[in-house]
Amino acid sequence: MSEHETSSETLGEPTRRDFLYLTTGMAGAVGAIAVAWPFIDQMRPDASTLALASIEVDVSSLEPGMSLTAKWRGKPVFIRNRTDKEVEEANAVELADLKDPVARNANLPADAQATDLDRSAGKEKENWIVMIGSCTHLGCVPLGQAGDFGGWFCPCHGSHYDTAGRIRKGPAPQNLAVPTFAFTSDTVIKIG
Ligand code: FES
Repeated sequence: MSEHETSSETLGEPTRRDFLYLTTGMAGAVGAIAVAWPFIDQMRPDASTLALASIEVDVSSLEPGMSLTAKWRGKPVFIRNRTDKEVEEANAVELADLKDPVARNANLPADAQATDLDRSAGKEKENWIVMIGSCTHLGCVPLGQAGDFGGWFCPCHGSHYDTAGRIRKGPAPQNLAVPTFAFTSDTVIKIG
């Protein structure tokens, strides 16, 4: 036995093999937590009901330029009360310049075009936009009021969305999805 091995044993230091074992054990523990959580979550009695439910969001506190993120069916939903300037900027973009010219709006036919109006809450409510906050590249949650086009920016791999949530630059292939929603009053939006 070499002098080095003797001294390791004497001092009680972990050997390389022990170290690998410990590392593997830790990874196993972390994995177990990550897997266990959805099961615990699903066991709550109201979980399946919640997963299907519509939600109502009070947006009365959102002045133009402000946004909030609601949670619906386990996903973030961005709601933004856009300024007139942000709407004008989105309307000034030619459809031919869009990477994804499809509205991706669950409230409209599948072939609706990605005009600002058809990305928004529609006539009289065009300043409002409601979208699933999941980057269409790999699903990260983009940051609001950010990026080269003043809309949303996904820092994961650098996708830039404009003020209508349309992909303008970066690897994401599609515009942010607009879920089924409707204003049930001037200040409440029902999603789902
Ligand atoms: S997940 Fe958004 S850019 Fe990759």
